[in-house]
Amino acid sequence: MEIIKIGSDILRQKCESVNEITEAHSKLAGEMFKILDASRGVGLAGPQIGVPQRIFVIRLDGDSPRVFINPSLLETSEETALGEEGCLSIPGVWAELRRPKRVKVQAWNEKGRPFSIEAQGILARAILHEYDHLEGILFVDRLSELKRERLMAKYSKLKKNQ
Ligand code: NI
Repeated sequence: MEIIKIGSDILRQKCESVNEITEAHSKLAGEMFKILDASRGVGLAGPQIGVPQRIFVIRLDGDSPRVFINPSLLETSEETALGEEGCLSIPGVWAELRRPKRVKVQAWNEKGRPFSIEAQGILARAILHEYDHLEGILFVDRLSELKRERLMAKYSKLKKNQ
C-alpha cells in the first residue's frame, strides 16, 4: 500500500464518520501499523492510504499502539508548544510548528470500544496532526506563508532529485 502524497485531492477532503466498527477496521488498523513500521512514521490517517474515513493510528516509541476512530477533540489547551513536525505525505521535510500543548480526545478503538484520553507532549501533537488529516488539513497549512513556500520549494527540489 502506497502512501498518498501532497497534491492529491483525497488529502484535502473532510473524511466520513465510520458508521459501524467492524472486523475490517481491525484489519485496516493492522495494515496502517505495518505501513508506519515500514516508513518509520509516528502516525497515519485513513486518507493517506486512500481511505477517506475518520480513522488514524499513532505509535510512539515506548508507548502502545493507539487506534482512533471517529475522534472528537473535547478540549485543547490555550497554552501552546513549539515542536518539530513532518508528515509521511510530504516526505523529507520538517518544520517547527506551534500547537496546543494538551488535548482531551474521545474516540473508539478498532474493537468498537469508546475511550477518552488527556494527552500532552508528542502524543498531543501527533493526535492534533492526525486529526487535521481527517479534516483535509496538512501541517504545512499551519505555517506562515513564507515558511510554507520555503518548505514546499525544498520538497519540490527533493522530489526532482529522487
Ligand atoms: Ni501527516
